Amino acid sequence: MTVPPPGAFSHTAQIDRQALVAGSIELIERLQDPTGAYPASPTFSAYAGYSWFRDGAFIADAMSSAGRVASAERFFDWCAGVIVSRSAQIGRIAAAAQAGRPLADSEMLPTRFTFDGRDGDDDWWDFQLDGYGTWIWAVGAHVARHNADPGRWAEAIGLTLDYLAASWQRPCFDWWEEHSEHVHISTLGCLVAGARAAAALPVLGAEHRQVAETLAGEIDAAIAARGVSAAGLGRAPHLVKWVGSSAVDASLAAVVGVMDVVPAASALGLATISAIETDLAVDGGVHRFVDDTYFGGGQWPLLSCFLGLAQLRAGDRGRAEQLLDWAGATVDADGAMPEQVEDHLLAPDRLEEWVTRWGPSARPLLWSHAMYIRLAVDLGRPSAREEHSA
Ligand code: BGC
Repeated sequence: MTVPPPGAFSHTAQIDRQALVAGSIELIERLQDPTGAYPASPTFSAYAGYSWFRDGAFIADAMSSAGRVASAERFFDWCAGVIVSRSAQIGRIAAAAQAGRPLADSEMLPTRFTFDGRDGDDDWWDFQLDGYGTWIWAVGAHVARHNADPGRWAEAIGLTLDYLAASWQRPCFDWWEEHSEHVHISTLGCLVAGARAAAALPVLGAEHRQVAETLAGEIDAAIAARGVSAAGLGRAPHLVKWVGSSAVDASLAAVVGVMDVVPAASALGLATISAIETDLAVDGGVHRFVDDTYFGGGQWPLLSCFLGLAQLRAGDRGRAEQLLDWAGATVDADGAMPEQVEDHLLAPDRLEEWVTRWGPSARPLLWSHAMYIRLAVDLGRPSAREEHSA
């Protein structure tokens, strides 16, 4: 898809960028619930009142990267409380898996919770594993960044590892809460990131450290064996959407980018970035996957930022700047960023049904603001080369 030339953005964009980062931090802090939960979107009918581990972990990581230590830690405290309160359920899940009689998807942990940590009363596409890896990854990144003491999250991290060890091979819903019949490679990537982070934490007991190391190794090997497209399909092998697919999904940008599970500058990382650019990016706006029909299948600013983080790590700072500024241009007059925009729809005839069902798509979406912060923070840092020559 079309890519604008590098260097197309001016100093003015830089000034707006700082204001949008500040406004985004303020918005997230203002909307964080007293319990520590980050609402996905305060006003959108289908999300209001719920906090997701996936969105929240990336929001916490962004706040941590922007120096908002207390906000990030309040979210980790909330996650830990939710998980520890479900230790009996995790014990049942682990015992059933061990006995070779795994529990049904409906008995697994949910993907989103009310702010006070309950499942909530609304049906949802609930069995999703990625967030349980992502929250541990975010804790690990926070601990490394701020030299924080992870001791008070250790019990919950151990329980999360028990849960993942019992369930990582199961098909489940993906980042987009779709296709529960598949094993999704970006989900596996989140689990590797979480397991690696756990293994590096000094506060886990020897047994859980071993669980973390084994998990990281086994899932990494599964990605290498089953998560890469075949050679000879007309382009270099890249990470794929799910086991058996040859398509790409934009969530894979997180796996090769900010979570660094596959190094962005490796052959596999570069091929994955290139496939996302070719198949899913239109200017700086990134679609989730080619068959997306949700709200007509628009472009997601948070995915522009994930791709920008991957491009920055791969060494293409100019493209990362373009992607950030495309995302920034989706903000409205009230300073709110949306989940997606409708400028370029993959399935225009599917927009109306969602608007009728749930109203206009989510705005503000805190995860969009968070990814904008996260990429802006990284772009604000001098590159290693600039540091060296300074
Ligand atoms: C997205 C999820 C997200 C949720 C809350 C859904 O539409 O597919 O990735 O976690 O909204 O933001």
